[in-house]
Amino acid sequence: MKRLFVAIELAAAAREAIAGEQRRLQRAAAGSGSAMKWVDPRHLHLTLAFLGEVAAAEAEALERAMQRPFTVPPFWLAFERVGVFPPAGPPRVLWLGVGEGAEALIAVQRQVAARVEAVGIPIERRPFQPHLTLARWRTSRPGDRRWVLALDRPDRVARLAVETVALIHSRLSPGGPSYTTLCRAPLVDPAPPPLQSS
Ligand code: 2AM
Repeated sequence: MKRLFVAIELAAAAREAIAGEQRRLQRAAAGSGSAMKWVDPRHLHLTLAFLGEVAAAEAEALERAMQRPFTVPPFWLAFERVGVFPPAGPPRVLWLGVGEGAEALIAVQRQVAARVEAVGIPIERRPFQPHLTLARWRTSRPGDRRWVLALDRPDRVARLAVETVALIHSRLSPGGPSYTTLCRAPLVDPAPPPLQSS
């Protein structure tokens, strides 16, 4: 069995900018007395599909399926706005949202979901809500939502050129997760080349 997920990986510049935003929020969290677990900046990624434990045969089939190009042209993704899950009550997840590029991201996610299902792996039926998890609350209070959302600001945190989608193997241990990218599929423009006039 392999614990797998499909995600957009971050380039170094975007990772550094997002880690800077994490530090800003972390300082405020320290002042609030909240108990939070921050995602190690090396582990930041944008999940498209979480598959959980997958049997070897299906993992192999998925690895083959996830090497084929996706028919969405490469695009720019902007990370901006902080938010929390769930939408009401004590928050559990602190995330960074997606502005520019959200539609293209959703189109890629649909193609990923179709490939996962074609291999016979069940996928979450919940609608996809693009987000990048920055931290999780160990224990939270209803008031935590207020201080976090007060720190939101409209500026863009980072911009990322999305050119590939990765299939990632996650190993959990008491020291934290370790991630290995098994394969990457490129995004390609499905439009045929223009006809040449003679
Ligand atoms: P998240 O960022 O929304 O928390 C690897 O574990 C990735 O898979 C995480 O980044 C997490 O996305 C996502 N994921 C989705 N559902 C999950 C689940 N039930 N358990 C663990 N990870 C999950």
